[in-house]
Amino acid sequence: MSTPSTNVQWGGRFSESTDAFVAEFTASVGFDRRLYRYDIEGSIAHASMLGKVGVLTHDERDQILDGLKAVMADIEAGTFEWSVALEDVHMNVEKALTDKIGPVGKKLHTGRSRNDQIATDIRLYLRDELDHLMAELTRLQTGLIDLAAQEADTIMPGFTHLQTAQPVTFGHHLLAWNEMLERDFSRLHDCRVRMNVMPLGAAALAGTTYPIDRQFTADLLGFDRPSENSLDSVSDRDFAIEFSAAASLIMMHLSRMSEELVLWTSAQFNFVELPDRFCTGSSIMPQKKNPDVPELVRGKSGRIFGHLMSLLTLMKSQPLAYNKDNQEDKEPVFDTVDNLSGCLRAFADMVPFIEANRDSMKSAAIRGYSTATDLADYLVKKGMPFRDAHDVVGKSVAYGLQTGKDLSEMTLAELQPFSDTIGDDVFEVLTLEGSVAARDHLGGTAPAQVKAAAERARARLEER
Ligand code: ARG
Repeated sequence: MSTPSTNVQWGGRFSESTDAFVAEFTASVGFDRRLYRYDIEGSIAHASMLGKVGVLTHDERDQILDGLKAVMADIEAGTFEWSVALEDVHMNVEKALTDKIGPVGKKLHTGRSRNDQIATDIRLYLRDELDHLMAELTRLQTGLIDLAAQEADTIMPGFTHLQTAQPVTFGHHLLAWNEMLERDFSRLHDCRVRMNVMPLGAAALAGTTYPIDRQFTADLLGFDRPSENSLDSVSDRDFAIEFSAAASLIMMHLSRMSEELVLWTSAQFNFVELPDRFCTGSSIMPQKKNPDVPELVRGKSGRIFGHLMSLLTLMKSQPLAYNKDNQEDKEPVFDTVDNLSGCLRAFADMVPFIEANRDSMKSAAIRGYSTATDLADYLVKKGMPFRDAHDVVGKSVAYGLQTGKDLSEMTLAELQPFSDTIGDDVFEVLTLEGSVAARDHLGGTAPAQVKAAAERARARLEER
C-alpha cells in the first residue's frame, strides 16, 4: 500500500507522495521566494477584503494580518526556513502562517488560488522594479544632459559608415543618446500603465463563489482597477514580455553607447577619458586601461535579448488559462531586472565623469575633410548646381589628400583652379567652428541649438 501524499495544501486526493526528484523539479521556491514581500502584501489585502465582506470575522482577519506581519518579520530577519517540499513562496508563507496562528491560518486561501496569487505578486514586484529602473534612467539622463550642456561647443567629427562625415558638437552627440533614452523611459512608463491591473479574484480561472470586493483589494494594493476577465487574468504574461522588450531596447541603446565609448577610449581615437575607477588593467600589458564597464554592458545585451525570446516562446500556443509553463516567466524577468538595473547604475555613475579630449576630437575632425559639404553648399549659394559643386569639392579633396592639407589649410590660389567661383570669403565656411555654427535650426548641431536643446531636455525630466 502506498503512503498518502505528505503535502497538506493539496495532497488530499493523492494516494502516494510526490517523487522526490519531481518535487524538486517542479518547485519554484528556489527563485520565487524573492517575491515574499509582494506575496504577503497581496495576502494582507486579500484577508482585509475577506474581513470586509464578512467571509472572515474581524477577529479571524486580525489574527491573519498579525500572523502575516510576523512571517514577514521572520523572513526579513533571516530566520525563516524555506522548504522545497512546500513548492513555492505561496505555500511556504501559508504554512508558516498556520504554524504561527493555528488553524485560522488555513482560511487565508478562501476565494483565491495560487494562479491569481502569482499573477498578482509578479505584477506588484515588477511595478516596484519599474519605478526603480525609471529613477535610474532619469539619473543617467540627467548626467548626459549636464555633460552635453558643458560640451555644447566641443567639436568632433560626426560619422556615417564610421567615416568622418561632417563636424558636429560633442554635446549634440550626447543629446542623441539622450533621445534614445527618452523613448525608453516612455516605454517603461507605458508598460507600467498596462501592467497595473489586478488579477486577484480570478481565483484558479473562473472566479470564485464568495462575495468578494475586487475594487476594495485593488485600491489597497494601488492597482488602477481589477482585471476584466478571469481566464485572461491568470494566463496573461504580456506585461512580462512588454517589459522584456522595453529592457531589450534599453540594452540595445546602452550597447551602442558602449561601443562608441570603447572606440573613443582607444589610442586610435583618443576622444574621451573614462575615470580609472570604471576601468581595469591588464595583468600582462602594463600600459593597458581597459573600458570594462562599457564592454560588459555591451555584452550583457545578449542575455537580455535572449530573455525576450524565452518569454515569447514560453507564451506561444499556450491554451487558456493557467499552465505550469508560466512558472518559467520568473527567472528571465528577474535576470532582466537585475542586469538592466546594474547596467543603468554603472552608466549613471560613470557618465558625469566622462572627460572629452577636446584637442584630439578637433584634430580628428580636421583630418577627415569634414567641411567638404560646407564648401559645396558655399558654391551652391553662389549659383552653382549642387552636382557640379560636388565635383569641384571632390577634386579639391583629392588635391588635399595628395598634399596632406585640409581644405581650410589651402590658399585661395590653391583652391581657385577648381572653380573661380571660390572667393576670399570661403574660409569662413571652411573652419570647423563656422561649419557647426551654420547648422543653426531646431535639431541642428550649432552650439546655440545644443544649449537650447539641453534646456528643453532638462525641462522634460522635471515634468516626470
Ligand atoms: N509556482 C507557480 C508559478 O510560478 C505558482 C502557481 C502555481 N499554480 C498551480 N496551480 N500549480 O506559476
